[in-house]
Amino acid sequence: MTGQRVMRVALIGFGTVGQGFAHILARSGDWYRRQFGLDLRIVAVSDLQRGSVHDPAGLDPAVLLERAGDLARVPAPVHGWDSLRTIRESNAEAVLEMTFTDLQTGEPGLSHARAALGSGKHLVTSNKGPVALHLPELQRLARDNGVMLGMEATVMSGTPTLALATEMLRGAMITRVEGILNGTSNYILTEMGGGSPFGEALRRAQELGYAEANPAADIDGTDARAKAAILANLLLDAPLTPDDVECTGIRDLTGRDIEEARAAGQVWKLVAGVEAGRDGVRARVAPQRLPLSHPLASIDGVTNAITFTTEYLGEVTLTGPGAGRLETGYAMVGDLLKIHRLGQRAAGDELKEVSTA
Ligand code: HSE
Repeated sequence: MTGQRVMRVALIGFGTVGQGFAHILARSGDWYRRQFGLDLRIVAVSDLQRGSVHDPAGLDPAVLLERAGDLARVPAPVHGWDSLRTIRESNAEAVLEMTFTDLQTGEPGLSHARAALGSGKHLVTSNKGPVALHLPELQRLARDNGVMLGMEATVMSGTPTLALATEMLRGAMITRVEGILNGTSNYILTEMGGGSPFGEALRRAQELGYAEANPAADIDGTDARAKAAILANLLLDAPLTPDDVECTGIRDLTGRDIEEARAAGQVWKLVAGVEAGRDGVRARVAPQRLPLSHPLASIDGVTNAITFTTEYLGEVTLTGPGAGRLETGYAMVGDLLKIHRLGQRAAGDELKEVSTA
């Protein structure tokens, strides 16, 4: 590949996802350079707990990971900038927003998203709060500022759900979407099926980096509800917010319920569905007892699955990881590769216009 583009990125939040992204870059950054002509360079990291660091020339992802607990120890010309200053004043072209999700207010991710897009920087976010609550506004801001908004990480981590649906399936006319969209609750239900108590299964999901900072969102279904709202907006043009999605979680399911289902040849799953009907688009999240023959019944552990019902292809099902450090970190990479691809295409179009003028 000839020609190389440097893309400078600022990481806002350096927890599970941010570190997953840095890990991938430490391991595969050279390959991305050779393979795609894209030199992804971290120029700033800002985290509420871990501190912040900025080097306009670039920071070594391996060093960031070694000193992730205290970013003040990473050698660099600038330390101590808060998130908004990092977004506005660093020389990053793209901001990766990976702070914790707040599904009530969207903050602090919402302010970060507005600041990034408003200052003409691409935004790639794993934060479900701002996207589920304010997607039309963020899309407008991106358009008005001529930058891209990437959100693949918000649904099924790096499993390319939104890419597949928006780029390939949209034209096949999606009428319905149904799936298991929360990795933590599916992991818990699977472990309970194997005899583990609820609390122990949740603790393991937290240790493995699957659960939200506040795992109530996983257990009470509100994480899946936010994802259902995102899908309704993106795929069915329905401006639903999480409050418009009926929602029941898995909190009240007991070991006995799971045992009873098993005895009847069934299994409990937390299912999210979005459907276009005569009265508009309706969305719902609820535990369902599925027969073992149901396509979602065999989706176990942190794996997620989604079935798109379309006019021209019938049903298309995608299965893959729904959460995790590298899995979600990869979603950020995937969006940046897409921004790079589209940038190359735009540059090509400009050249063409110039040469035909
Ligand atoms: N806590 C979420 C889950 C993370 O378990 O699915 C990915 O959105």
